Amino acid sequence: MSDIILCKSQKTEKTDPIILGIESSCDETAAAVIRGRSLLSDEIISSAPVQAQYGGVVPEIASRAHTDAVDEVVRRALKSAGIKKEELDAVAVTYGAGLLGALLVGLSFAKAFAFGLGIPLIGVNHIRGHLAAAYLEDAELAPPFVTLLASGGHTAILYAESETGFRSLGGTVDDAAGEAFDKVARVLGLPYPGGPHLEALAREGSPVVPLPKMFKGEGGYRFSYSGLKTAVINYIHTKEMKSEAWSRADVAASFQHAALDILVERTVEAAKEEGVGVVTAGGGVIANGYLRERLASACGREGLRLVLPAKKRCTDNAAMIASEGLIQYRAGNFSPLSLNAQAYIPL
Ligand code: KG4
Ligand code: ZN
Repeated sequence: MSDIILCKSQKTEKTDPIILGIESSCDETAAAVIRGRSLLSDEIISSAPVQAQYGGVVPEIASRAHTDAVDEVVRRALKSAGIKKEELDAVAVTYGAGLLGALLVGLSFAKAFAFGLGIPLIGVNHIRGHLAAAYLEDAELAPPFVTLLASGGHTAILYAESETGFRSLGGTVDDAAGEAFDKVARVLGLPYPGGPHLEALAREGSPVVPLPKMFKGEGGYRFSYSGLKTAVINYIHTKEMKSEAWSRADVAASFQHAALDILVERTVEAAKEEGVGVVTAGGGVIANGYLRERLASACGREGLRLVLPAKKRCTDNAAMIASEGLIQYRAGNFSPLSLNAQAYIPL
């Protein structure tokens, strides 16, 4: 593939370009269309129900499912947006981080689509996409703000100094929050994906199981999930060895409180310390209803404005990829057609 960067100068001057976003880093094949910050369509074809039969994402199954779905999901996104492909100004696509085979399907499709239309390709970092989802909720949102990132692979509190510049204030020292939810869900015998199932079970219980306070670390906003996960496992083992009754719902509720309360507390502390008036969030764990309620009440108490992406745009989706694509478009950051997929990329 050549190093050619497609970039129509008259088009890159548009302030509200029409951008097609494509996402295929894990088990969701997604496409969305935005015009400026207005969301025109947001489509997903998920292989999660198939993956659930195997207890997690099987990379080969994900790649094949993306291959089957990518053309159809893009067709749907254009149709429900009422946009002809010739009207598009750019194609934004996730190039990492994620499963290599899965990423390659969306990336190859996006390259061919952009090349065929003669419009720019914008490679998007998936995690930056999660952080950009909030911009679609509020046309007025502008840095600086403090943002809570909590997904399956990342948990961090960041200071956004600009749309493209972030400073990490801290985060997990071991497991990500979503990873901890998935591991505890498995111990509780819940199906994949663990997070939403654990949240549903927690609604039937009370946070009465004594679990250790999350480690807060010294200085910065550091915390650890591995001790909490071990405490849950030890609690269940001890109960079973003594043949004592225990409640799965109470364990779920207790874990959920312990795992999420610290994120709320530390995010609000960070916003106050940094002197910002706005808090945003992104990533799959932000779909959690308990976390959303706690964040809303803590921010309300402290007089902070909270901008949360809709639940559907916290878990993987293409609208967030288009949103980050818009930021890169406005910054003039276009990708060559030689762009490769990457399993890991820093924020
Ligand atoms: O952002 P995401 O969709 O994919 C990554 O980029 O990692 O996040 C997936 C993670 C999974 O660990 C999943 O269990 C968790 O987000 N998750 C939740 C909820 N929905 C998804 N965790 C807690 N409560 C939820 N409702
Ligand atoms: Zn994600």
